[in-house]
Amino acid sequence: MHVKRIGVLTSGGDAPGMNACVRSVVRTAIHHGVECYGIRRGWNGLITGDVIRLDEKNIAHIINRGGTILYTARSKEFMTEEGQKKAVSTCKFLGLDGIVAIGGDGTFRGAQALSRHGVNVIGIPATIDNDISCTNYSLGFDTAANTAIECIDKLRDTMQSHERCSVVEVMGRNAGYLAMYVGLAVGATAVLVPEDHIDFDLDVIEKIRQARFNGFTHYMIVVAEGAGSAAEIAKKIKHAIDLDPRVTVLGHIQRGGSPTGRDRVNATKMGYLAVELLLQGKTNRVICTNEGSFIDMEIERALSMQRGIQKMEKDVLCAMTGI
Ligand code: F6P
Repeated sequence: MHVKRIGVLTSGGDAPGMNACVRSVVRTAIHHGVECYGIRRGWNGLITGDVIRLDEKNIAHIINRGGTILYTARSKEFMTEEGQKKAVSTCKFLGLDGIVAIGGDGTFRGAQALSRHGVNVIGIPATIDNDISCTNYSLGFDTAANTAIECIDKLRDTMQSHERCSVVEVMGRNAGYLAMYVGLAVGATAVLVPEDHIDFDLDVIEKIRQARFNGFTHYMIVVAEGAGSAAEIAKKIKHAIDLDPRVTVLGHIQRGGSPTGRDRVNATKMGYLAVELLLQGKTNRVICTNEGSFIDMEIERALSMQRGIQKMEKDVLCAMTGI
């Protein structure tokens, strides 16, 4: 099939690096003489025909911008057969020979459905949660982690001055990758993630007691949102030990900001590879990366993979906390 025109969309929670990825898709398309359309507001844009023509000018100077110029959404309608049929009609009407879908596993399920209807689709992992099992890195994670680290470093200044305990809630939905990474990077007293069974006395109170015994006078507890609310944990700490913790929920601030170099470069490489795959007539595939090398795999396989927090990370965390 000769590819003449493709579409690109961003879907699910936004992630820094999405714009860099859109830019790369458009530039790669132009490089091959292919036209590119931006589909706005995720899969909804494909249902309603909400598209814009993208060229080198309207994607200029977005490599450094957080968020997504295409807007994003989580589309309930697209999960229905009827919604998918409307999307296929839009693709036919616009003459789109393929779609690059940038987002998380919900986005990939949409891509899978669309490719079953005969539209060529390639997925690119982008979510700050880094919870897509087929890839050990998703766009936005590095920026979000660095944002959280910067915030917690600031918190530490005031916690140290007042000799306080801080309980910080980090995003991640049902996954603890972001919290684990951030916890290691800030030297947390304790880190709580949903992937582990939590023994409150052992995993929190005992860690604080050990730190106190060793002469520390302030304590940083990092909790993944999927492992419990920071407010609840602070209450339990107050009840169990003579501390009056302060609670910080980092929230959506973690999703914003200019992408790091790592996110920009990975976004650029993944965007390029996705277009190359479409040009080869491939479909129903996701780009994955493992420490610098890139592969693509079938969406079914990508979605069926399981990934927990690595034992090595847990061992490191165990050695770094409660001292
Ligand atoms: O999936 C990204 C994410 O930021 C999660 O970490 C979080 O649980 C969720 O999205 C928040 O969603 P919303 O933007 O709808 O509040």
